[in-house]
Amino acid sequence: MKIAVIGTGYVGLVTGTCFANMGNTVWCVDVDEKKIENLKRGIIPIYEPGLSEMVLNNFKQRNLNFTTKIQEALEVCNICFIAVGTPMGEDGSADLHYVLDVAESIGKYMSHHMYVVDKSTVPVGTAEKVYTRIQEELSKRESNLTFDVISNPEFLKEGNAISDCMKPDRIVIGINNEDAEEIMRELYKPYLMNTENFIVMDIASAEMTKYAANSMLATKISFMNEISNICERVGADINKIRKGIGSDKRIGYSFIYPGCGYGGSCFPKDVKALIKTADEYGYGAPLLQSVEEVNNTQKLVLVEKVKQRFSTNLLGKVFAVWGLAFKPDTDDMRESAAITIIEELTELGAEIQAYDPKAMDEARECYLKGNERVTYCESKYDALKGADALVLVTEWKEFRSPDFYEIKERLRNPVIFDGRNQYSAKSLAKYGLDYYQIGVRPSV
Ligand code: NAD
Ligand code: UGA
Repeated sequence: MKIAVIGTGYVGLVTGTCFANMGNTVWCVDVDEKKIENLKRGIIPIYEPGLSEMVLNNFKQRNLNFTTKIQEALEVCNICFIAVGTPMGEDGSADLHYVLDVAESIGKYMSHHMYVVDKSTVPVGTAEKVYTRIQEELSKRESNLTFDVISNPEFLKEGNAISDCMKPDRIVIGINNEDAEEIMRELYKPYLMNTENFIVMDIASAEMTKYAANSMLATKISFMNEISNICERVGADINKIRKGIGSDKRIGYSFIYPGCGYGGSCFPKDVKALIKTADEYGYGAPLLQSVEEVNNTQKLVLVEKVKQRFSTNLLGKVFAVWGLAFKPDTDDMRESAAITIIEELTELGAEIQAYDPKAMDEARECYLKGNERVTYCESKYDALKGADALVLVTEWKEFRSPDFYEIKERLRNPVIFDGRNQYSAKSLAKYGLDYYQIGVRPSV
């Protein structure tokens, strides 16, 4: 098949590459000239395990093409995916202007029947807006070309995106005619182990499925964080409770890890957007509002522990921060808890010695830009030198089994604040390290 993917970000680049890898011919389109130029020279804009090799291979074989000109792609393709961003607007709703700009370009430049597939996360009713915008442009050209709009939300996770795309749990398709269903079935057949996992529904339900999935996952996390906060007060251990409840198949083990709050480009914005949609229809969505509120507070839980241990005035104190990305295996820092934690600690006067295996450029150039109290270190151990305590924010593998003797030797005070419950309190006690984690009373 010949496929255009408009928007070459996390979703567009990964899905475009995975389509190409199955033998389709793909045109990845982006308005960012530098990004496209770099991709043509083999420079990949994001860190995602396995992506770079796959892009280079498919580019070499000419299955994968990069361009800034949408008309070039539309000329040869009959399927066009929209994979541009839908960031949080000022009022919390999803900002659809990138999606509708693409719809306008499709209407302007399409030259034959087109299947327009929306992969961006968009509120119910967006497919209709996309349809109208394309139709308006066609009318201006006095064209009677036809097209279908399909909803195909994406469920990939950063850090595991290639595997999620090549072996998805399910493909959700929202359609309003059988032709569109057939072409999507054909496209996705090689990726699915089981045809039952190809789930077809009406467009509104497909659009809503995406928000329901992300909100459900965010709810699980906020629920566990709330239970953690109760555990600390009553003297129970969340790590044991996680095992105790996860073993119930109806609950399951996934997404019940407590921490210092969920981040990333999607959970925060999608929960907010669903609240906004509900509000537009006169419903307050109290559960989702609490999910968001718990998360905002949770991002500050480690800072509260630091204040209790040291003081509310942190002038002269230095903290080593391990992990800046919103989760391991990505350089993405969007809505990362590390931003909130570092901003708050430096606001209270502290100096930060930060280390992350992949996200330090993002931090320096964007998310913590201009914060002169932050120094970036070459290694996790360099970050500890002379620090008053270690604050672990992102659970990269290289932080899982560190040399605790080295940690103790380099720190000014033997204290670890762990936002991801990576270590055993018993072992740390043997090393003489004070250990603060989430959902367990500190062992000091
Ligand atoms: P992103 O910000 O990484 O990439 C979006 C890209 O679109 C950018 O490169 C931008 O330059 C480009 N763009 C903007 N307007 C354009 C236009 N008119 N023509 C061509 N290109 C244009 O975004 P992302 O993280 O890939 O997310 C895209 C969508 O997918 C969002 O709706 C998001 O909610 C959803 N989603 C994201 C993930 C994820 O893990 N990041 C997972 C599932 C769904
Ligand atoms: C999430 C969803 O998992 C994807 O299915 C979805 O496609 C995507 O959002 C999206 O719509 O963009 P992602 O944001 O890449 O994927 O990462 P997750 O693994 O879901 O983690 C999100 C946040 O939740 C991270 O900050 C992580 O640390 C936190 N988390 C996750 C927890 O605090 N506890 C957990 O048990 C799991």
